[in-house]
This record gives sequence, structure tokens and C-alpha cells, in this order.
Amino acid sequence: MNTTNKPKRASWSTSFAFTLAAAASAIGLGNLWRFPYLAAQYGGGSFILIYLVLVVTLGFTLMVSEIAIGRATQQSQLTAFSRFRRSWGILGLAATIVPLLIVPYYCVIGGWVLKYFVTYVQLLFHPGADLLANPDAFFGSFISAPFAPYAYTLVFLGLSALVILLGVKNGIEKSNLVLMPLLFLLAIAICVYVAFLPGAADGISFYLLPNLSFFRTATGSFSIALLAKTVLGAMGQMFYSLSIAMGIMITYGSYLSKTDSIERAVRRIEFFDTLIALLAGFMIIPVVYLFAVKTGTPVQEAMNAGPGLMFITLPKVFATFSPATAAIVGTFFFLLVIFAALTSAISLYEACLASVCDLLHIRRSAAALALFILIAFLAVFSALGYGPLVKVKPFGLPFLDFFDFITNSVLMPLVALGTCLFVSFVISPDSIEMEILRSDPRFVARTLYRVMVRFVAPLLIVAVLVSEICRALGLFGWSI
Ligand code: PFF
Repeated sequence: MNTTNKPKRASWSTSFAFTLAAAASAIGLGNLWRFPYLAAQYGGGSFILIYLVLVVTLGFTLMVSEIAIGRATQQSQLTAFSRFRRSWGILGLAATIVPLLIVPYYCVIGGWVLKYFVTYVQLLFHPGADLLANPDAFFGSFISAPFAPYAYTLVFLGLSALVILLGVKNGIEKSNLVLMPLLFLLAIAICVYVAFLPGAADGISFYLLPNLSFFRTATGSFSIALLAKTVLGAMGQMFYSLSIAMGIMITYGSYLSKTDSIERAVRRIEFFDTLIALLAGFMIIPVVYLFAVKTGTPVQEAMNAGPGLMFITLPKVFATFSPATAAIVGTFFFLLVIFAALTSAISLYEACLASVCDLLHIRRSAAALALFILIAFLAVFSALGYGPLVKVKPFGLPFLDFFDFITNSVLMPLVALGTCLFVSFVISPDSIEMEILRSDPRFVARTLYRVMVRFVAPLLIVAVLVSEICRALGLFGWSI
């Protein structure tokens, strides 16, 4: 497919480099910030169990499809679908708009994390300073400041751009080789610390043991609606966490050698991503549990902090430690989150960049610069949406929440659905199987894949789409 005057396509050095890059993309804010609060809200162990089943079935199907499409076409998402059938180019466009809309607001949250990291580092050097004495007020005044959130966003975006400018092998691969082991080490160190806190066992049981009473109504009868809600919540989280339906896996698959096993790589990516999500629960839920018990806050109320869990509840928890311990734990924790968020932001940036390069055949550096300007511009809205732009609310939502809703709740399920229909009815699951068999002697989960991609996945995805829209619009009493 390569013509002589086209630059050679970038590629990963080894199969491991690909697995690490895809896992680094998947492991992000979704694991560290979203998974723990969802697990705590949806009944602990039962949510975890449902989540695991979804990852190895639905998540597997979607990820295999995307990577195989990328490798077969040697194209990023914008041009991959139209390689097979011109009229499906619209799906490629939608799959490119997703990361383009996500990366600006992801960098804004990355900027918040950076701010917390800097604050805890300051506390290391000025023990006793009351920087985080009132975490509610600290968070509120930071995100509503006139310029600071944007400044931190730009630093975070700049760091991602630096890695991107260095290229696939020298930038993405090398940075992952440093950041990912550090991330694992930090996660394990924090988990060990938490496990030794007095009373941690109760918090761990709260996290891991299935809370079947969660599925019972006030009258004590079993509620199918609550079970369905848990499944849908777990499914939404799975999309978010595995970096599915945002073009990344197609782009990363297009750099994968024809001899590397796709099936094995996907299983490994799922394993690492889920491992970090579970570890994040170990880090966060027991300490919030202990905090609730200590301060007399009802446990479920403390866990229900939702998105505020990381930026408000956790600093409150850290504040109950001695000042030096709070500074050390806070510094390590937010450093870990920076690493996770940075490697994910890089993958979102790369998915946009590869698309521009594949379409226009321009130099990587030129495309990277143009995208930097565009992302920096789009980020203004989310960064200042709680401050100077607080009065402008598209569909009644602050800009950041609006972009999150449009991408995660609407566009991503649509792209995932489109991908399943594309595989089922345009190229047929046989083509995916053929791509897998290029490097594997056999496709172990072949039957599962075929049944999922044709029948189960489209149904489940439509259910997620409907439920997400109901949740956002507050229809049918849907919450969380
Ligand atoms: N999968 C990554 C995470 O869990 O944070 C990356 C990501 C997912 C980015 C979803 C943005 C997003 F909306």
C-alpha cells in the first residue's frame, strides 16, 4: 500500500512497546479518579465483578476490532474506515473529533492535578503551611481563578507536546518506559502504606465485598433496575478506561508490526488497565472509609463525593495525617496521577496528529504545532468555564462538563456502535480474523468475538447511549 514518495510509517520497536503504549493510554484519570468512586457508589465487589466480565468480553471485542483495523489499513482512524468503503469516512471523522474534543479538557484536569502536586511539594518544604486547610475552598477558588487554571493547562499540554514532537519511538515509547514503571511503583508504595493504616481492613472489605443490599429497594426486594444501572455504569467506565472509540487504538494499531499478536496484546492491556484501576480503589477507598468513620460522616455520603473525590475528599483525608505525612503522601499520589494523565493525553494528541498527517501528508512537526494551537485555543473554554466564563453554559453545563458529555456520553457510544456495524456488515468479522491470524496461529476467542461484535455489543452500546442521555438530562430519575 506504501507508495514510493510517502514517508515511511512510524512503528513500535517491539510488541512490548506497543502493549506498554496502549496500556499507558488506557491507564489514566479514568482508573485513578473515576473507577474508585464508581466502585464505592455501585456496591463495591459486585460492581468490580460486573466490570471484569465486561472488560474481557465487550472491551476485548472493541479493542481487537480497532487495533486490527489500524494494522490492516496502516492508517489512523480518520482515513482507516474510508480505505475499505469511501462512504464510511464519516465514521472516521467522528472518531477523530472525539480525541480532538477530549484532549483540551483532559489537559485542563491534568492542569488541576499539576496544581495539587505543586501545592503538596510546597508543603514538603514549608511544613505547617495551611495551603490545603480548607480543601473545598481551595479547589473552588483555584478552578474559578481568572488565569491560573489555564496557565497550568498550558504547562500540561506543553509537556504532552514535547513528547509528541520527539516522535513515536523516541518520544512516546521512551517516555512510557520511564513513566509507567514509576507509576506502578508509586501505586504499590501507596497501597502498602494504606494497607498498614490501623483499621484499613474494614475499608478494604467495604471496597471488595459485594454489597448485595445495594440491589435491594427500600422494601427489601431485589431490584432489576438497580442491577441494570450498575451494568450500565460499569460499561460506561469500561469505554472510558480502555480508551475505546476515540481512535487511539486504531492509530496505535497502525504502528504495530504484522508479526505481533493482537489477541495477546489486548489481553495484556486489559490486565494492566484493570490492575491499576483495582489498585486505585485500594489506595483511595479504605482511606476515605477510615476518614468517614473518624469524622462521623456517613460512609456512603463520603464515597458519594463523585468527581470531587480526588480534589476535595482526598485532600481532606490527607489533612487528618501529620503535616509531614500529608505532604509526602499527597506529593506521591498526585505525581502518580500526573504520570497516568500525561501518558493518556499523549495518546489522545497522537491520535489527532496521526489523522492530520495521514490526510494531508504533512510533516509531523508542522501538524503537532498546528494542533497545539488548536488544542490550546479549545482548552480556554474548559479552563475558564468555572471562572470568567461561568455565565456561558452550553445546554446548562459548564464547558468542561459539556465537552465530557458530548464525547463520552454521545459520540463515543456512536463511534463504538458504528465500528461494530462496520465490522459486521461492511468488512465482515472474517477480515478482522484474517488480520489476527497473520500473526497468531489461532484466534482463541473467535466465537466470543463473532457473537459479541454482531449481536451483543451493538445492543449493549445502544443501552449505554440511551442511559447516558437519560442520566445527563435527569430523565426517569436517573442519577450518578
Ligand atoms: N483511558 C484514559 C483514562 O482512563 O483516563 C484516557 C481517556 C479516557 C481520556 C476517556 C479521556 C476520556 F474521555
